[in-house]
Amino acid sequence: STARFVLDPAFAVGDVDPRLFGSFVEHLGRCVYTGLYEPGHPAADAEGLRTDVLELVRELGVTAIRYPGGNFVSGYDWEDGVGPKESRPRRLDPAWRSTETNQFGLSEFMDFVRKVEGTEPMLAVNLGTRGVKEALELLEYANHPGGTDRSDQRVAHGDKEPYGVRLWCLGNEMDGPWQIGHKDADEYGKLAAATAWAMRLVDPDVQLVACGSSAQFMPTFGAWESTVLEHTYDLVDFVSMHAYYEEKDGDRDSFLASAVDTESFIENVIATCDHVGARLKSKKRIDISFDEWNVWYSSRPETERRNWQEAPRLLEDVYSVTDAVVFGSLLIALLRHADRVRVACLAQLVNVIAPIMTEPGGPAWRQTTFFPFAQASQYGRGRVLQVHVDSPTYETAKFGEVPLLQATAVADEETGAVTVFAVNRSRTDALPLEVSLRGLEGLTRVAEHSVLTDADPDARNTLDEPERVTPTAAEGTSLDGGVLRATLPALSWNMIRLS
Ligand code: AHR
Repeated sequence: STARFVLDPAFAVGDVDPRLFGSFVEHLGRCVYTGLYEPGHPAADAEGLRTDVLELVRELGVTAIRYPGGNFVSGYDWEDGVGPKESRPRRLDPAWRSTETNQFGLSEFMDFVRKVEGTEPMLAVNLGTRGVKEALELLEYANHPGGTDRSDQRVAHGDKEPYGVRLWCLGNEMDGPWQIGHKDADEYGKLAAATAWAMRLVDPDVQLVACGSSAQFMPTFGAWESTVLEHTYDLVDFVSMHAYYEEKDGDRDSFLASAVDTESFIENVIATCDHVGARLKSKKRIDISFDEWNVWYSSRPETERRNWQEAPRLLEDVYSVTDAVVFGSLLIALLRHADRVRVACLAQLVNVIAPIMTEPGGPAWRQTTFFPFAQASQYGRGRVLQVHVDSPTYETAKFGEVPLLQATAVADEETGAVTVFAVNRSRTDALPLEVSLRGLEGLTRVAEHSVLTDADPDARNTLDEPERVTPTAAEGTSLDGGVLRATLPALSWNMIRLS
């Protein structure tokens, strides 16, 4: 049977913050070294950045980049990564049991951000092994124009202009027992509040993210957010969310419904934020920075051992078409809550659970997940319209009955164009779709229906076959008498542009 919904610009979710299409660069495995930075590579520029990777990052449409971690940041001294490269120390990175050469640091990251263009940096401070003082020193180094010890160091290191970093994370996953310097909610809430308070004195323009939960399944979920926000409510702008999904025990149907968890997680965090706000009688609203999300096969055994190597091959997941469909549904979940999810970071950007892969000395290529992200970033800007799907359902072990269709729509206020993003979760059947347009008489044609699907649900792009999976044009999609009609192939990500 047919899946249906109505689009009416009178019923909107909210405007998309461009920073919804952020990503994440951590000193982990080969994300930095031999990923985006590889001096000596034929495509490297004078600063050692791989221009082939830069081109792909631009094409991906990344709008914010979080750095330098992740678990890494909780044991990191940012001073190790600035100044003359020859005097930077080699250090143990306990988070990933690797050796950190510090040949890439803040200045190189800012160079990368500038060269990507159209993206803004998002820095995390270390609240694992460090505290208020070091966060202030980093902020002074990064954002103060000059005339003080730390800011003059930046100038002496070659960066005359302040970086003007607006977005700052107050630590990373501090609720996780695996985190270096892990704290309980009360302890972390107090430290985050003290750090936020002091950082605002140095730079009142910063936007601050308090750590929320590392996943909805964390035992402290809910209570953690509530306690942390009681301490930080007036001092921070965002609470963070992190979520990763993978197929477990061969249960592909539940995996395909992962976005059910994402949406409930978002709604539960919003409820918690608003509950604390109500208790504090505050008019302020806390928004969400979903600063790590992706498909991640974290329970698969790693081929590389973590024995203090430099840039080992860690977390190099190779994504299938199925993964890309789930990935697309996670993107849709974010867009469907664009009124409160203002920042989001796809974790990560290169090689490490990433849309872009590289070989040392060799090529760079797009994973299957690259395409939904690039399309959503390009056409998912504007106002998200409410979508209530009336869809056939299927049964899942984890989430019960789930709609086969997951969808959202974004209206471009300037051009009047509307883009529908939709996923068909059925592994076997195409799904007919009918969308009734109301108050959208200006839309007269289907400009594009792009689809990502494959006869082999496990098809992947690899070094040997880097373009095995790419989006194709779907046929038979029509817009007549205010009704859009399309067929969504089994297991597919779809982008339908109406103009
Ligand atoms: O993105 C990989 C890791 O996942 C990050 O370092 C950490 O924050 C999360 O657990």
